[in-house]
Amino acid sequence: MSRVAAQLIRTVRLDLLPLLVEHAEEMAAVLSDRALHTFIGGTPDTAQALRSRYQRMTAGGSDPAVSWLNWVIRLRDEACLTGTVQATISPSDHGHFAEVAWVVGTPWQGRGIASEAARGLVDWLSQQPVRTVIAHVHPDHQASAAVAAAAGLTPTDEWHEGEIRWRRSVVAAQVRRTTSSPTCTT
Ligand SMILES: CC(C)(COP(=O)(O)OP(=O)(O)OC[C@H]1O[C@@H](n2cnc3c(N)ncnc32)[C@H](O)[C@@H]1OP(=O)(O)O)[C@@H](O)C(=O)NCCC(=O)NCCS
Repeated sequence: MSRVAAQLIRTVRLDLLPLLVEHAEEMAAVLSDRALHTFIGGTPDTAQALRSRYQRMTAGGSDPAVSWLNWVIRLRDEACLTGTVQATISPSDHGHFAEVAWVVGTPWQGRGIASEAARGLVDWLSQQPVRTVIAHVHPDHQASAAVAAAAGLTPTDEWHEGEIRWRRSVVAAQVRRTTSSPTCTT
């Protein structure tokens, strides 16, 4: 499978815009709160460090079988960036899987933005050659668990680096779409 490219994803309130290096300046302010790193580790990046990070992220990794997909979350009515979602699509013995993650800046939290963005992302992934969506969520991170649940993922009994693996099969969605596509009745 060739690499998958991020595309614009629209939801009711949000535009998920494929990440550009030019987003770094605004995103450095959006992601400036240290509290965002409680469960994911690290510290906020300066605009310059984020620019370098976004350069690496948009260049993609060295493995041509793996797609790094990144979006910024734009709140359409307020015309501002509020966070990011990402999906890394990799091959496995059971077909391609996408590992997803989300971050919403502190001033915009608690408004359902991460849940809406994650649902939009997983819906979009269900239209790609992906069989499974997974996320790794710290067992104490109730907000992130709620976001994963909103996107249709369920917790498994598998652990990864101290986090619980959540999973959703998206094969059914692809089959449903194929079988329910409109037919010509003339
Ligand atoms: C996790 C995160 C993205 C949630 O963003 P958000 O936009 O506030 O999420 P939503 O508004 O969609 O809320 C999701 C759910 O979490 C709940 N929630 C929000 N903050 C919470 C908190 N501090 N404690 C418990 N639940 C919380 C909401 O009530 C909502 O639950 P509901 O759907 O049952 O009503 C945000 O807290 C964040 O960016 N955290 C730091 C980065 C991170 O840890 N990302 C996860 C890595 S996978």
